[in-house]
Amino acid sequence: MDMIIYNNSIFERDSINIDLEDRGYQFGDGVYEVIRVYNGKLFTAEEHLKRFIKSANEIKINVPYQVGEMQEKINELIHTTSLSTGIVYLQLTRGVSKRNHAFPSPPCEPVYIAYTKELALPIVPMKSGVTTITVEDIRWLRCDIKSLNLLPNILAKQEAVDSNSFEAIQHRGTIVTEGSSSNVWMIKNQVLYTHPANHYILNGITRQVLLSICKKTGFVVEEKPFTIEDMVKADEVFLTGTTTEVMPVIQINKQRIGNGDPGTLTRQLQQLFTSEIEKQCGNLSKSFD
Ligand code: PDD
Repeated sequence: MDMIIYNNSIFERDSINIDLEDRGYQFGDGVYEVIRVYNGKLFTAEEHLKRFIKSANEIKINVPYQVGEMQEKINELIHTTSLSTGIVYLQLTRGVSKRNHAFPSPPCEPVYIAYTKELALPIVPMKSGVTTITVEDIRWLRCDIKSLNLLPNILAKQEAVDSNSFEAIQHRGTIVTEGSSSNVWMIKNQVLYTHPANHYILNGITRQVLLSICKKTGFVVEEKPFTIEDMVKADEVFLTGTTTEVMPVIQINKQRIGNGDPGTLTRQLQQLFTSEIEKQCGNLSKSFD
């Protein structure tokens, strides 16, 4: 029996109907989050839930639940669905109302859903690295909001899939922004570079965790824009994201990065990131040796 969260209570999936005039369905008028689960425990839950509320507030939706009560219910769902390794998907829409672009007046109740999904471990490409392509970033100018409107991201990812690549690295003109569902980093002469957290990218939680790991362990990071040319000439390139974790990039547009193998520092960062997961969620039976 599939169990899900609907408006912060747990129901059987089949007992819930989503209205065809839900504004999420009609307009993509809502926000979402993806939180990782390891050993049945949420990783960086609070950070994701706070960003969920922030995204909602940015599009003027008030989340009718506190971080603590959402987290409690999600933990209950993880327990109910016996999820060990996987993700929780959360979504909040402005609610159900007769189709009209402007906000409903009086406002309608937001619709909140969450469900769990299993994800297999270990992810093989994390050891061997992935190939990527570059695509023009055609998204709007509020990429800091984790909005349901993902058409440009979907088109970019499909382009990657069509060219047998894992991810599409987006750029505005010559400047690299981020992947279709990940943040992008490059390393040159032992210095890490990643796009600053502004309206052009989503400030990834994985990105933030890695920044704090770098600070603690003495890796030098510059949150500074870099060009496609800088990136393809870099010593190492990698992606970060909730499902991607720390993923080495070995090729961009069929051009090898470094010697074509995952970089040494990237592998060190993978190990440090794994230790961080283990601190929160317990021992993971995977290694990057
Ligand atoms: N994507 N940039 C974009 C555009 C993203 O969609 C994501 C995450 C990230 C990485 O953010 P985080 O580290 O918080 O996961 C960056 C999720 C996983 C998704 O859409 O499935």
